[in-house]
Amino acid sequence: MNYPAWFLPAIGGGSLIALIAVTHVFVAHFAVGGGLYLVLAERKGLKERSGKILEFTRSHAKFFILVTLVYGSITGVGIWWIISLVNPAATSLLIHNFVFGWAAEWVFFVVEILAAFIYFYMFGKMEPSSHQKIGWMYFFSAWMSLVLINGIVAFMLTPGRWVQDQNFWSGFLNPSFLPSMFFRTFLAFLMAGAFGYVTSSFSKDRVVRVQMTRFSAKWCLVAVAGIIPSAYWYLKALPTPAQELIMGKSPTIEVAKLWGLGSLVAIIVVSIVAGMVLPKLNNKITSLVVFVSALLFMGSFEWTREAARRPYVINQVMYSNMIFENDLPQINETGFLKMAKWVKNRNVAESKLIDAGREIFIHQCYACHTIGGINNDIVVRTKGMSLRGMVKYIERIHRVRYFMPPFAGTEEEAKALAAFIVGGLHGKPIEKELPPVAALPTRGDTLFEDNCSSCHSIEEMRELIADRDRDTLRDMLDRLEELSDEMPPFEGTSQEKDLLADYLYTIKEGRS
Ligand code: HEC
Ligand code: HEC
Repeated sequence: MNYPAWFLPAIGGGSLIALIAVTHVFVAHFAVGGGLYLVLAERKGLKERSGKILEFTRSHAKFFILVTLVYGSITGVGIWWIISLVNPAATSLLIHNFVFGWAAEWVFFVVEILAAFIYFYMFGKMEPSSHQKIGWMYFFSAWMSLVLINGIVAFMLTPGRWVQDQNFWSGFLNPSFLPSMFFRTFLAFLMAGAFGYVTSSFSKDRVVRVQMTRFSAKWCLVAVAGIIPSAYWYLKALPTPAQELIMGKSPTIEVAKLWGLGSLVAIIVVSIVAGMVLPKLNNKITSLVVFVSALLFMGSFEWTREAARRPYVINQVMYSNMIFENDLPQINETGFLKMAKWVKNRNVAESKLIDAGREIFIHQCYACHTIGGINNDIVVRTKGMSLRGMVKYIERIHRVRYFMPPFAGTEEEAKALAAFIVGGLHGKPIEKELPPVAALPTRGDTLFEDNCSSCHSIEEMRELIADRDRDTLRDMLDRLEELSDEMPPFEGTSQEKDLLADYLYTIKEGRS
């Protein structure tokens, strides 16, 4: 609201962040776990007096430096670039509150880079014990970067006491700080194992390939054994609404969960079969399976974490669309367009209804919805809705779907937004329904429009209720919330429930 929107209707800022963040985070965790992997692989080589393992470690270190220092650094800067364009308000809040944290992180990052270079360029040219110390120094500073960034990212999900006292340490050592730190540390080990697989599969020496494949498989399995309990601990540290979103109230998370579980199972199976039992099976293809599964697991975790924060970008403080929760009462009173700094329409003029609605959409909905684009397309999601249904939906948006922020603005502005979606995007006639949107008598079909059409088309409803009689339908309306985690209860009176049940029955009979 206080910043202009970077408007890319077909792509959406969220997908850009996801695209760069997932690959960056993947490499960033590798940068931590991979450091420990190098030290332990070197130690294994020294202990077993195996020149080949040491040579393997040296070439893995080269790959490691290229991936983490080059790709990791470029995408790291890229993330700042994108988040400050997509969500300047949240970025600014994080920078201002955690200056000291970021500064400390940069110090550790410099140490990390220096140690990595020394480790690689002095491989075999230094006293082994000092060389290993450099490796440990690398790992420690990389892990400290993880700890620091983890505190700030965890703050966004669970700000804890910071909401009252705005104190650095209350925000940093927030309720999910510890579980998330353990979870990410194990995730870092998983990435190290996954990358180790890849380098092993490229090794020309058969013996080294078998040995290092087993070594990498152990990393993956130990990591998974740590990930599972810490994920549970993490989940328990979240506030109830976030837990509910993860346990079924968010359709987005349901999809991510499937991918996450599937890839975890793939990692376990491949690590046991083609890692521990028959390491000979490790070739470029199997290692690619583990690698891609680890990437998918990481992606679905990050996606779930971000989606569980919805409707906020910083929980309980700022909504995803950059509106502060505390400002809501005043915006509803004064009007969004009057208070927003970057809109052309200052009020809802009858002649510019759709244009005003478009601006409101960009500032309140576009944070999560593209227009005819790739992610959460609003056009597809609203095709069955009438103007009337849309106005009603917007008024109750946060109650029906907790993961969307409440609408911020006046009734007129809600109408303008609805007019933009229904009239502007779908080209449906809207004039005749304006202005007395709310004044229609209560009828079964309007009850359906107002309460059900956002999630069910009439055709779909016909299939859902094909084998139900009138009384069963009436009975269901008392307990919709029990039928699906996603479905809100129907809040109408019992007379309205009767009307709606009659109407549903006509749908079922094909008379509507
Ligand atoms: C914080 C993210 C977020 C914001 C902001 C947001 N939405 Fe949504 N919206 C979603 C998600 C997630 C879905 C569900 C997508 C799915 O079903 O897969 C959704 C679904 C919808 C649907 C389909 C009906 C339903 O309940 O599933 C409509 C209509 C909708 N949003 C309208 C809006 C409007 C209007 C705004 C702006 C006032 C808005 N949304 C802002 C995340 C958001
Ligand atoms: C926020 C989205 C949402 C809204 C609003 C909503 N539903 Fe649903 N409903 C669902 C979901 C999700 C399911 C799960 C089944 C499916 O569609 O695949 C479902 C299922 C159903 C079923 C089938 C249940 C079963 O056990 O077979 C009925 C009947 C139903 N809804 C009726 C309604 C009625 C009537 C309304 C309006 C008062 C309504 N729904 C509003 C999301 C919603």
